[in-house]
Amino acid sequence: MTTPLRLAIAGLGTVGVGVIKMVRQNAALISARTGRDVQIVAVSARSRDKDRGVSLQNYDWEDDPVTMATRDDVDVFVELMGGSDGPAKAATEAALAAGKDVVTANKAMLAIHGQALALAAEEAGRVLRYEAAVAGGIPVIKALTEGLAGNEITRVMGVMNGTCNYILTRMESAGLPYDEVFAEADALGYLEADPTLDVGGIDAGHKLAILASIAFGTQVAFDAMELEGIDRITIEDIRQAADMGYKIKLLGVAQLTGRGLEQRMSPCLVPDTSPLGQLDGGTNMVVLEGDHVGQIVLRGAGAGEGPTASAVMSDILDIARGIRVATFGQPATRLTQATPAKAVTPAPYYLRMQLLDKPGAMAKVATVLGEAGISIDRMRQYGHQDDTAPVLIVTHKTTRAAIDAARKAFDAIDVIAEPPVTLRIEQV
Ligand code: NAP
Ligand code: HSE
Repeated sequence: MTTPLRLAIAGLGTVGVGVIKMVRQNAALISARTGRDVQIVAVSARSRDKDRGVSLQNYDWEDDPVTMATRDDVDVFVELMGGSDGPAKAATEAALAAGKDVVTANKAMLAIHGQALALAAEEAGRVLRYEAAVAGGIPVIKALTEGLAGNEITRVMGVMNGTCNYILTRMESAGLPYDEVFAEADALGYLEADPTLDVGGIDAGHKLAILASIAFGTQVAFDAMELEGIDRITIEDIRQAADMGYKIKLLGVAQLTGRGLEQRMSPCLVPDTSPLGQLDGGTNMVVLEGDHVGQIVLRGAGAGEGPTASAVMSDILDIARGIRVATFGQPATRLTQATPAKAVTPAPYYLRMQLLDKPGAMAKVATVLGEAGISIDRMRQYGHQDDTAPVLIVTHKTTRAAIDAARKAFDAIDVIAEPPVTLRIEQV
């Protein structure tokens, strides 16, 4: 048996405690599979006195994660504190500079500082691994960097925020409005400390930006992503989309187009019979498309103690086995800077509006769409409620620019009660 792999773990919350449990419970199989023992030598968190449900007495306690990251008796610094900057970034940088490999679950840090950290890891000759940062327990980073490494990736898609998928599917199954289900998710402890990270699409956007970088060999570019959250989705949207054969999902899509890199995280309609349409509750799904492999669908738990610790352990086992893959699948110096392209890929759109009960109202709507170059595929009008009637329109393929032009023109006609809801229908 060779020398043990020595870990220092910063952050003893949900994920950190999960990792400690796995290192202990699966010690024998880890050493059988890697040929090395994996040992925890030191831990750090904010509060030393907190009962975390696991004993820490065999590990050195460090108040300062940065100091811990540079200890001579540590091989791998495991960053599980969170936050894009602050101690997570400082300790990660210190660990790499001190010649340690780093494992993290921190999607915010990687989405914002991924390029600089990947360069720092390469300069130091160390690895920076982050399987847990995207889609929790689903081994999607490994799938992209290793399993599909010989393919040209054509598109990456995914439902990668379990909280949003829980909210949307619960609204549909229980027939409850957004605010009530949001409160329920809060009571169940699903929401991040800042819920905008979840419902604003930011958390899922961080994950998509990381996947896009690996898939397309581009520097991670979270700032260039089109982001829209789920907080404007109503129970009517969900019901009426269902009536037309669709589910609403907070869907991320990244693809390289002739005009640049398109990255979108927004509520979209997907066919209710598709794998993405059938994804219920807090589960995640990632869809990868490669030129030779075709479509791969990965589904599993995107969060929680066990699934996230499982992903962290996969990185630790790779390091123990001597498997060393560049942060984004190729040297960071070779990653290109993609031109951002905003929703240039045409798609059908779903429009929902409250049409005033006036003669010629529908004709005016049709004229606006026609003048914007948008062709109607299907249309449905429901019974009048007071003096308005809900109208749903599914268009043929069109562009976001044409939809935006039509929305502007709708403001100038006097037959729509509120700005219409417009959602892209993703072909999955
Ligand atoms: P958590 O339960 O909130 O735990 C965070 C831990 O970090 C706590 O132990 C906390 O210490 C410690 N910490 C926070 N700020 C610190 C600071 N300034 N200095 C030292 N320690 C500090 O978070 P988590 O859910 O385990 O998430 C950890 C990371 O994994 C995050 O990057 C998160 O995005 C990522 N992640 C989480 C999940 C999940 O399901 N939870 C899934 C995928 C990825 P105290 O306990 O003393 O307060
Ligand atoms: N808030 C995230 C989610 C946790 O709901 O999926 C895992 O990243």
